[in-house]
Amino acid sequence: MTIENIDFRQRAWVEVFPEAIKSNTEEIRNILSEDCLLMAVVKADGYGHGSVTVAKAALAGGASNLGVATLQEALDLRKAGIQSPILVLGNLINIDDLNICLQLDLMPTLSNCREALLCQEIALSQGKSWKVHIKVDTGMTRLGCDFDHVYDLISLVDKLENLNLHGLYSHLALADGSLNSCEETVTLQQQEKFQKLLSRISSRKKPLCRHLANSAGTFRDQSLHLDMVRVGLALYGYSPFENFANDCSLKPALAVRARVTLIRDVPAGTGVSYGHTFVTQRRSRLAVVGIGYADGINRALSGEMFVLIDGELFPQIGSITMDQLVIDITARPDIEVGSVVTLLGEDGASVITPYQWSQITGSIPWEILCSFKYRLPRVVI
Ligand SMILES: Cc1ncc(COP(=O)(O)O)c(C=O)c1O
Repeated sequence: MTIENIDFRQRAWVEVFPEAIKSNTEEIRNILSEDCLLMAVVKADGYGHGSVTVAKAALAGGASNLGVATLQEALDLRKAGIQSPILVLGNLINIDDLNICLQLDLMPTLSNCREALLCQEIALSQGKSWKVHIKVDTGMTRLGCDFDHVYDLISLVDKLENLNLHGLYSHLALADGSLNSCEETVTLQQQEKFQKLLSRISSRKKPLCRHLANSAGTFRDQSLHLDMVRVGLALYGYSPFENFANDCSLKPALAVRARVTLIRDVPAGTGVSYGHTFVTQRRSRLAVVGIGYADGINRALSGEMFVLIDGELFPQIGSITMDQLVIDITARPDIEVGSVVTLLGEDGASVITPYQWSQITGSIPWEILCSFKYRLPRVVI
């Protein structure tokens, strides 16, 4: 092996499966009507999978639009030669960013008249017509125009010569968790508000792409699909409803793996790792695995998580440290230095899901998928 063709599967790495992303996209497409568009949400580096890899796989699977949070994320996609429509979901607040946004043929999200006027000025100065989306807040209380002011904003944008109001959207506060009645009520209220706005502008003649649903909305109800759905989590292989089977069979698109770097035989009564939070009860064989919290393995998982080797579960013991963690392999004396350990994702027929981790750490699958650090090379399989 030379430095040019180095195999990055040395110590610890993230495997990414574009075929799974393509297949998940196809599965999601199957529950949409033919004329409903699919936006692949590839922000946060494609939820940690690598935005360019994800975007290409999702486009191959039937997505037509891409959603990012920041200008830099969009720039990475354009630099990779991706020409598809890209919506910047976050607010761009300064003139330089907005100028680049138009130069890159990106669609910005507008939340107020100030932003609309600024975009008009920029589009006029570049001599272009600019496709923009307006976001309205129907109950998420985060980004978007106040519901009471959005009609005026739409009227203004329609009057601005260089702006082309291409899309109108809102975001559901329902994203994760179980389908409890409170979430159901909130979603219905948001849907009703959005519909009310759409009725108010129904006499408007120009075409408009109306969109509301994230993964949860997409699976919940076809009436939320409208002209486009914006799907993140499901692309990456997980349903937003942990205990709910949906109509798709989604495949995890990522696996976190590391190698055993050292094997230790220790007597009963040996304290393991910082703080000796675990003490062996018997003579034990321990394996040190080259991955730690600096790679994104949350320290709160210490002593609570399991890992897979050849599809078999082994307990992690003691505190997870910055660069290593220790597992108990007493049951399997054949495991060697260099053996591959799966921390998250599939190993043969077995799987460890972000839901299992989130139950321990109080996190959510979205956060877990985004939490793997730069030190773990992404290896596209
Ligand atoms: C505006 C917007 N739309 C869609 C999504 C995708 O959500 P999910 O990953 O739950 O499908 C997100 C993600 O946070 C978002 O911010």
